[in-house]
Amino acid sequence: MNCAERLVEHFGTQAEVARRLKLDRAVVSNWVKSGYVPARWAMEVEAVTEGRIAALEVLNEANHRRPIRVKSRGEDENLFGSVIPGSDTMNPYLPSKRIQSFHPPQRTLMGPGPTEIHPRVLTTMSQPAIGYLDPIFVEMMEELKGLLRYVYQTKNPLTFPVSGPGSVGMEYCFVNMVAPGDKVIVCINGVFGGRMLENVVRCGGVPVTIEHEWGTPVDPQRVEDALKANPDTKIVAFVHAETSTGCLSDAKAIIEVAHRHDALTIVDAVTSLAGVPVLVDEWGVDAIYSGSQKCLSCTPGLSPVSFSERVVDRVKARKDKIHSWFMDMNLLLGYWGATTRTYHHTAPTNSLFALHEALLLIREEGLEDCWARHRRHHTALKAGLEAMGLKYLVQEQYRVPQMNAARVPEGVNEAEVRKRLLAEFSLEIGAGLGPLAGKIWRFGTMGYSCRPDNVMLCLSALGSVLQDMGHDVHVGEAEAAAHGAYAQMHAQAAQQKKRAA
Ligand SMILES: Cc1ncc(COP(=O)(O)O)c(C=O)c1O
Repeated sequence: MNCAERLVEHFGTQAEVARRLKLDRAVVSNWVKSGYVPARWAMEVEAVTEGRIAALEVLNEANHRRPIRVKSRGEDENLFGSVIPGSDTMNPYLPSKRIQSFHPPQRTLMGPGPTEIHPRVLTTMSQPAIGYLDPIFVEMMEELKGLLRYVYQTKNPLTFPVSGPGSVGMEYCFVNMVAPGDKVIVCINGVFGGRMLENVVRCGGVPVTIEHEWGTPVDPQRVEDALKANPDTKIVAFVHAETSTGCLSDAKAIIEVAHRHDALTIVDAVTSLAGVPVLVDEWGVDAIYSGSQKCLSCTPGLSPVSFSERVVDRVKARKDKIHSWFMDMNLLLGYWGATTRTYHHTAPTNSLFALHEALLLIREEGLEDCWARHRRHHTALKAGLEAMGLKYLVQEQYRVPQMNAARVPEGVNEAEVRKRLLAEFSLEIGAGLGPLAGKIWRFGTMGYSCRPDNVMLCLSALGSVLQDMGHDVHVGEAEAAAHGAYAQMHAQAAQQKKRAA
């Protein structure tokens, strides 16, 4: 029996070995598969087994064993051409650690993002690269823009993905729309409103902030009051679904107020897009950005944006130079615009293949059914969390279905719970940020993570960890409540179908 197997035999399970060594379970599983414990763990293994497995045994075994190699080629074969023997061995910059291909563990992602990527999206992403000006790629870009317009419910010609995460989409809106000296009202009810404020300041704008208590929505009346007090306001900026609290604001009402006072709007839809209705044309949104890694079930690193003609005209009319070359809308139009396709930057082609597939999945599901799925699994998760005695942070009518913020019960070590969920169940949930750090957990049911199997795993894993830590939770009750909620929703749907027939 090798040292990895002896460790598992000694502690009973791989999970227990992982817990004792404060490691991820996937690491221990890899040791068992590889048939040895890496040498650097020798001392810890001797310590946790109280000498039953000696460090020397681990070291000797590790020196004689090699990890399983994934590739079928021989050691001395070079994949990229002939090797000059020994040419690299003396390179002083060679890492001292022996580095293998990276194989991430399989996780269930139920935090605030990123969420799990749909398998079809992963497959599409691994297709061979093509050039970003290849006519086939250009055709795909047009389809992608069409699919984005569908998800955003807009006819805005300027709707495309910015190369970069949601923060880049945010910056893209501010840097193009806020000229030095422009007055901007920023509504803050969580972390991301604060980031908008940072952007205004860095663009040389004059911010007027409306601070709200975290966990409450933006109040359109307060926006109206601020606009009356600042009639020279050019822009109103707010977050539709505040990820740090799980609170949804009434975008339509805020935009209506802003337009009445002749101000443009910048809307953050990073967490809301495809999870709840985002109706760009109906609400008259001027500028909006989102992220690929949430309800779109795609890889992180792309930020879909959409701009009204009013915004495009305003940016074109700016006399000063936009302060960022990369983000200058006038320059990027040359690549993503309606007519021309000229080099601007090397587009992340495979990520764009992925976004195309992710949006196609939403098209196939149907946007309204996609919103309904997010609400359905939120309802089941909520039933389970409440059965466990957890209370939501946000009042029911303002909750973002796909971002469930629940208060940590009194006396619970919330960080320890998250650590155990990750180590023992390979499940990730989110912690609270800023003033809510240590006070809430955030359960995301977004995109491909929004599935019944994830909801049930989350409830049973949380229940068993809390019970094991001595808290008053009965494993099974939360799952029963969630099953009950699903059954009720199925019955209602069947009745509706019958009535419609
Ligand atoms: C509401 C909101 N805005 C902006 C961002 C920034 O997005 P990213 O992390 O992709 O840069 C996030 C990320 O979670 C978010 O939730």
